[in-house]
Amino acid sequence: MQRVFSGIQPTGNIHIGNYLGAIRNWVEMQHQYESLFCIVDYHAITVEYEPKKLHERVLDLAATLIASGIDPNTATLFVQSSVPEHTELTWLLTCITSIGALERMTQFKDKSERQKGGVFAGLMNYPVLMAADILIYKAELVPVGDDQIQHLELTREIARRFNSLFGEILPEPQPILTRAARVMALNDPTSKMSKSIEGSYIAMDDDDDTIRKKIRRAVTDPGPQGGEMGPGVKNLFTLLEAFAESEVVEQFRADYANQSLRYSDLKHTLGEAIVEAIAPIRERRAEILAKPDQLIEILNAGAERARKLARQTMAEVRDAMGFKMPVL
Ligand code: TRP
Repeated sequence: MQRVFSGIQPTGNIHIGNYLGAIRNWVEMQHQYESLFCIVDYHAITVEYEPKKLHERVLDLAATLIASGIDPNTATLFVQSSVPEHTELTWLLTCITSIGALERMTQFKDKSERQKGGVFAGLMNYPVLMAADILIYKAELVPVGDDQIQHLELTREIARRFNSLFGEILPEPQPILTRAARVMALNDPTSKMSKSIEGSYIAMDDDDDTIRKKIRRAVTDPGPQGGEMGPGVKNLFTLLEAFAESEVVEQFRADYANQSLRYSDLKHTLGEAIVEAIAPIRERRAEILAKPDQLIEILNAGAERARKLARQTMAEVRDAMGFKMPVL
């Protein structure tokens, strides 16, 4: 079985865009690949964050992942900071990564502009930590959204450079571009659904009526039907495709084509479909979070499994780079 690695940040307020873009794909993939899924808490501190909330967010995300169908007996689910070899490898890779390449990363440029309190080296080195996450497990495949393709290309570059300097140890990973369509903000369908824009998203822990209300309020740009859809209506169809049966989608598409679609019907059906998918996840998540000790045990078991693999790679890497002293 090929090995897959992917990571998700514990930044709080996971929404249905994250669910469709990453989590649901992971749930499918865990049965086809040897999967490692990582809650990347060290990545979360590259921008301003609240230390008091970090742990809670990690557990929250873990519960959401398990409630969504990640089976910790099938996939290895763990927290990045539980496996210190990630940061150890990051340092070594930092020494063979060009500053110019890091400064050219689109996400670094965007995020550094938004950092009011100053831009720290961790933000620039973010992609090196991401490369270490992947390479330390010699993962062959990495499911990512399109915004991470550039980081993955850099990972491949770092692996090539490492191999040419120190010997063939780190395989170049391939991206799997997740096929979920981009989910746009409900209140502004020209920008991406985002947890930092109030009213733009449906959170995984929204209750049923909140979900219904948010869909009812979604922008629909009522233009003439039949032709090309405006961004708001298109976004509702994207969500409908993700959450409803295909016959239902086809019916609404046909209605749109012959100009008889009532947006209130579309929204009602969509709201119910989302509720049906999200409510059971929300309930399971609450059950899991009610027993935090058990959850931590699950994550620890995942970290132990991951750490065995990480240690092996680190031993090879240290040896190849000339570090012959033992790790005590
Ligand atoms: N940077 C990724 C994101 O924000 C998260 C991530 C960290 C990741 N390490 C990774 C994704 C390794 C894939 C592989 O989405």
